[in-house]
Amino acid sequence: MARRLVLSTLFVALLDTSSVSAVPVSHKRNPFTFVQLNPYGDTTFELGNNFYLANTKHPKAVISTDINTRSDSSLIPITVIQTNSSTISKGVLESTIASYLAGDDVFTRDFLETLYISSSVEATLDASAAEYLTSLNSSYLFLESSISSKETKFPPVTLRSKVELPAGPYVVSLEKDTVKFSSVYRLYPDTFRTFLYGAYDSNDGESNHNPVGVFLPKFWDPLIPVPSRIYSWADDRPLAGERVAIKDLYDLKGLQTSGGSQAWAYITPVANGTAPSIQRIIDLGGVIVGKQKLAQFASGANPWEFQDEHYPFNPRGDGWLTCSASSSGAGCSIAAYDWLDYAIGSDTGSSMRRPAAVSGTYGQRPSQGLMSLERVMPLGGATDTAGVFSRDPYKWIKFSKAWYTPTLHQSSKLTGLSTLEVPDTTAFPKTILYPVEYLPLNNSAAEVILQEFIANMTRIFGMKVTKFNLTATIQNASDPIASNLTTLSNAASVINGWTQWSVVAKPLITAWKALFDGRFPPIDPARRSGWVNFNESRINEEAYARALVTKNVGVQWYEQNLQYSTPESCSESVMLYDIGTGGLPSFREKELNDSPGATYLAVLPKTAKITGANICPIFGCADFTVPIGQVPYFSNVTFHEEMVPVTINMVVKRGCDLMLYNMIEKLADEGVLKTVKTGRTAF
Ligand SMILES: *[C@@H]1O[C@H](CO)[C@@H](O)[C@H](O)[C@H]1NC(C)=O
Ligand SMILES: *[C@@H]1O[C@H](CO)[C@@H](O)[C@H](O)[C@H]1NC(C)=O
Ligand SMILES: *[C@@H]1O[C@H](CO)[C@@H](O)[C@H](O)[C@H]1NC(C)=O
Ligand SMILES: *[C@@H]1O[C@H](CO)[C@@H](O)[C@H](O)[C@H]1NC(C)=O
Ligand SMILES: *[C@@H]1O[C@H](CO)[C@@H](O)[C@H](O)[C@H]1NC(C)=O
Ligand SMILES: *[C@@H]1O[C@H](CO)[C@@H](O)[C@H](O)[C@H]1NC(C)=O
Ligand SMILES: *[C@@H]1O[C@H](CO)[C@@H](O)[C@H](O)[C@H]1NC(C)=O
Ligand SMILES: *[C@@H]1O[C@H](CO)[C@@H](O)[C@H](O)[C@H]1NC(C)=O
Ligand SMILES: *[C@@H]1O[C@H](CO)[C@@H](O)[C@H](O)[C@H]1NC(C)=O
Ligand SMILES: *[C@@H]1O[C@H](CO)[C@@H](O)[C@H](O)[C@H]1NC(C)=O
Repeated sequence: MARRLVLSTLFVALLDTSSVSAVPVSHKRNPFTFVQLNPYGDTTFELGNNFYLANTKHPKAVISTDINTRSDSSLIPITVIQTNSSTISKGVLESTIASYLAGDDVFTRDFLETLYISSSVEATLDASAAEYLTSLNSSYLFLESSISSKETKFPPVTLRSKVELPAGPYVVSLEKDTVKFSSVYRLYPDTFRTFLYGAYDSNDGESNHNPVGVFLPKFWDPLIPVPSRIYSWADDRPLAGERVAIKDLYDLKGLQTSGGSQAWAYITPVANGTAPSIQRIIDLGGVIVGKQKLAQFASGANPWEFQDEHYPFNPRGDGWLTCSASSSGAGCSIAAYDWLDYAIGSDTGSSMRRPAAVSGTYGQRPSQGLMSLERVMPLGGATDTAGVFSRDPYKWIKFSKAWYTPTLHQSSKLTGLSTLEVPDTTAFPKTILYPVEYLPLNNSAAEVILQEFIANMTRIFGMKVTKFNLTATIQNASDPIASNLTTLSNAASVINGWTQWSVVAKPLITAWKALFDGRFPPIDPARRSGWVNFNESRINEEAYARALVTKNVGVQWYEQNLQYSTPESCSESVMLYDIGTGGLPSFREKELNDSPGATYLAVLPKTAKITGANICPIFGCADFTVPIGQVPYFSNVTFHEEMVPVTINMVVKRGCDLMLYNMIEKLADEGVLKTVKTGRTAF
């Protein structure tokens, strides 16, 4: 909300800039160029070679003054500088500005057009500072009342009361009796087309976000607004200032949720509330920067089946690799942009884990029930989960531990499973399970990396490796339900099918039929036949309830016989498998995957009954994708050697998420797991 401060006195001085002579271009500040107002009354402008958005409709601070300033409603870039020094010298100012330049990608010297200087203590501006400020040729200078200056090089410039603003770049407008400070966002073009649109906090006092709503013909890409990092330097919340993108199935108040379908967007209003999972991120200090592409309705789809949306690009390798589905925009954006910290996706059947694998990033399917999915478009109510992509293991863990709070756990009524308990423990596993139907990795060069990773784990945690046959172990169970993978898979597909049908598909088909003379809605081919042939006498509310009971039988068996707790370990074992490509490239263009050196995704291993991706959707366990290396391939797109990421999945018993983060943190401490880079190669 805009803060309205009443100042007893405000002096604004126009510094003497009458004697401007020719200066080297490199020293000159670039002019502020107004571009356009967006549909919400906010301003886009160009400064230097960057584009910006400013919250001018709802400024961050509006300060009244009883002194007539020069009436000038045009916008002026300004830098709010905060120091703790009692003597503000040239050195203090220069080092503060240098730290802003080094620590932020939004601030530039062009914002030194005007300065507001404040200090946490009574301070004096000394002669060297006065001289330095004069040399900046700033238009205006605001000083907080706690700062005194005896220098006469420029007129005394004092604000009698503090402007409660974080340090950093803003734009300011001076009107007859008010000064308005507006937050600025740098607009980055989404060159890999991973977003549907950028968005920002409208600051309207009602928690609405606005779409950026601006298209610059100079780029074809959506523009994504990111705030200055300096704004959050004094904010100690765990996610303060972290830039977070969200998959377009989470509601955020003020924004359209599409689920990747224009037909769905057509029949649904703009969200009038925010999903609790996303509100949690905002409460922790995170900044939501936009909505991202997904496979339509979050169902699996191949890249060539995307019709409504243009399929996003993967920055890795030759630039022609798959982003997988359905959190495809999210995974590839984290591999692409240093200006983005996190992307929120969801996982029903693989949709966090596989996009993380093909983009070489960190991404998880948490334990079933760890995060509320209220106000999130569902696929399979009791199988959907929420996850976050990151490049850095420490940042990923920090986010996850702060985000997955017990108050947002789902109820047993929703999951059909036992109440979730998630101890924050270092009771690490003793065994590495190596399932022989799923490993070794397809590309033998990648298996070398996996073996080195396993050797690292056994060394660090003193673990033993057990090769076993997951399929045979399950089929050997004495319980007739738990041992029958057909029964368990069928239950999973009923759970997946019914929620989407009742909450999304049926309402959309019904509404479209009524609106357009009996027509079926235009949807992507991946879902069309399933929706056309949906059989409510087979899949219905009762079948769903029965499926939840079946699932629970499987989960209970799994937690007693396959991955179980002991007094020493939250999960006695960690199971490894690969949800990705085994070190082979998989492409966005269908035919390229027919080559012997390439692969399709989601290939069922020859001797397995279910894909590795399906293990945790069936058994409720936690399954994290972590990048461990990369291997070369010769690209038939660039005709050059390229690298494809190698990742591995770590699976533990449901509820052992925090233990697994602690284990991954230890692996990062030991230099085994590393931060991945953005761009063509992860390492
Ligand atoms: C300020 O103006 C002086 C004299 O015109 C010029 O030499 C100097 O480069 C300018 N400084 C900036 C930061 O623009
Ligand atoms: C000023 O001091 C406070 C409290 O010690 C600290 O949190 C803050 O980061 C300091 N600010 C600057 C600009 O050094
Ligand atoms: C939000 O919209 C829904 C219908 O889409 C409506 O039922 C609900 O009352 C609205 N809530 C608020 C707070 O306006
Ligand atoms: C490797 O991938 C190819 C192509 O998908 C597949 O035919 C083959 O079975 C895979 N081999 C292994 C060992 O997974
Ligand atoms: C194994 O650990 C060492 C550090 O101890 C690290 O340099 C190496 O990259 C790790 N390799 C794998 C594949 O984990
Ligand atoms: C695993 O066990 C299943 C069921 O007994 C069997 O069909 C399959 O061949 C086994 N796979 C391997 C790699 O041993
Ligand atoms: C199957 O179960 C029997 C007895 O419960 C056990 O001895 C045998 O090792 C099990 N086999 C597998 C493949 O798990
Ligand atoms: C598993 O269950 C299916 C029905 O869900 C049944 O047709 C099949 O015979 C069962 N398999 C075994 C080995 O019991
Ligand atoms: C729908 O399912 C029921 C029950 O399984 C079956 O009898 C019926 O033939 C199915 N209808 C169609 C059109 O497939
Ligand atoms: C490139 O094309 C050649 C010839 O068709 C094929 O043998 C090879 O497997 C392809 N490589 C990849 C990585 O797809």
